[in-house]
Amino acid sequence: MEPILRIAMPKGRIYKQAIELFSKANIPVPEMLDTSRKLIIPVPDASMEIIMSKPVDVPKYVEYGAADIGIVGKDVLMEEQRDVFELLDLNIAKCRMSVIGMQDNSGELNAKVATKYPKVAAKYFREQGEQVEIIKLNGSIELAPLIGLSDRIVDMVETGATIRENGLVEIDKIFDITSRLIANRVSYRIKQEQVQGICDALSAVIEEGNDEDHYRQSI
Ligand code: PRP
Repeated sequence: MEPILRIAMPKGRIYKQAIELFSKANIPVPEMLDTSRKLIIPVPDASMEIIMSKPVDVPKYVEYGAADIGIVGKDVLMEEQRDVFELLDLNIAKCRMSVIGMQDNSGELNAKVATKYPKVAAKYFREQGEQVEIIKLNGSIELAPLIGLSDRIVDMVETGATIRENGLVEIDKIFDITSRLIANRVSYRIKQEQVQGICDALSAVIEEGNDEDHYRQSI
């Protein structure tokens, strides 16, 4: 009998697209996963167990082997810097990490930067040769420039609606974000067949998606 493969699935914005990808790859996932309050969902037919996780905790679960594999945004991976294998770019939940500020940012900007991603922000400003004070917030980062906490923020931009509706502008893009499949180093060796099976099935679906994207762009 195959050992149980534990998958850390992020709740929230990535979840729907991740589940869609799994279904297309014929990896069975129970319906109503996101509406249920259950935290561990067994999938005995596929020798799997899904744990519903806060996105930011996925790399920790995987690094410590509490989950064998996980799905997580590149933003979280860059911030968390965990010792995990990054197996696959799932090409879903596309967005970007950017520096954002007030529309009129021509004057002298103060040296405070608010963000949910202090390590990412510190690295960016270090590379720019600019000394800033990073203020860690836990959400609604766009509030910071509006209430005078900082002139700039580092945050994720997806549709751009949040910055537009709050009269803010993107000053610089730091990097593109998509979701990734990650694996625990030991699980990758010990449960290699199962992990590779999931990786291959997802890869095939992603390839198809990329081909469709190319086709759409060329017509
Ligand atoms: C994220 C991010 C932005 C917004 C960007 O916040 O921090 O605020 O989404 O998306 P948009 O470009 O499509 O408007 P999230 O909704 O995760 O909530 P949070 O503010 O509590 O972090």
